[in-house]
Amino acid sequence: MLLGVNIDHVATLRNARGENYPSVIEAAKICLAAGANGITAHLREDRRHILDEDIYALKFDLKCRLNMEMAATDEMQKIALKILPDSCCIVPEKRKEITTEGGLDVASNPEHYAEFVKPLIDAGINVSLFIDPSKKQISAASDIGVKYVELHTGAYARAFGNKTEQKEFDAIKQATALGHLLDLNVNAGHGLNYDNVHRMNEIDNLHELNIGHSIISRALFVGLDNAVKEMLELVNKN
Ligand code: PXP
Repeated sequence: MLLGVNIDHVATLRNARGENYPSVIEAAKICLAAGANGITAHLREDRRHILDEDIYALKFDLKCRLNMEMAATDEMQKIALKILPDSCCIVPEKRKEITTEGGLDVASNPEHYAEFVKPLIDAGINVSLFIDPSKKQISAASDIGVKYVELHTGAYARAFGNKTEQKEFDAIKQATALGHLLDLNVNAGHGLNYDNVHRMNEIDNLHELNIGHSIISRALFVGLDNAVKEMLELVNKN
C-alpha cells in the first residue's frame, strides 16, 4: 500500500503567523526522503492553508508526485489544467467546515461530475473522486469513467474502538472489493492515525492512503522524518 502525506497543516502553521515558515516545500522533501510515495495538498477556495504558490512550487520546483485535492469549481479546474498534477482528488467543500466532512454525492449528480472530470482526464491527470464507502457511490464513480476513487474513512476513524467500528470497517472493505471488481484504483483517507490505521492492512487491493493531520501532529514530538517512518511501518504491516 502506498502512503501519500497530506501537508496542508504545515501551511496552517505557517499561515497562523503570516510568516514564510515552516516551509511546505522543505516538509514535502522530508516526507519523500522518509519514504512517502507522494505529497497531497488541498487548495481550498478560501486558501486557509495551501496557497497557489505552494502548489506551483510542489509541481515545478520540487517536481514531486503531487495529488492536488480540490473542489469541483471552474477556478480549480483551470488551475489544475495549468499545473497538471499527477492526480487530482475531487472533494466536496463547504466554507465553514473544519475539514472535509463527507464524500461527494456522485450518484445524484453523475452528469455534473462526468462533465467536470472530462477535461482533466483528457489532460492526462489521474482523477479521483472522494466518496463515502458505499456501493452506490462506487458504481456511480465507475460509470462516469474515472479510474480512481478515494474512500472517506472518517466514519471508521470516529467509530474506532466503539461498537460501530466493525460496521464502518466492513463498509470500506466491501467498497474496496467492489471498486477493484470494477477496475478502479481504490485509495482511502481522512482521520487515519497511528492507532486506527493498522486495520487498513486487512483490506485487499487498497492502493494508497492519504494521511495528514495525525502525521503533522506527531511530527511536533518526534520530527517529521520519524513521524512519516512510523506511519509507513504501520501502513505496510501485514
Ligand atoms: N483525503 C482527503 C480527500 C481529504 O480531504 C483529507 C483532508 O484534507 C485527507 C485525505 C487527509 O485527512 P487527515 O488530515 O484527517 O489525515
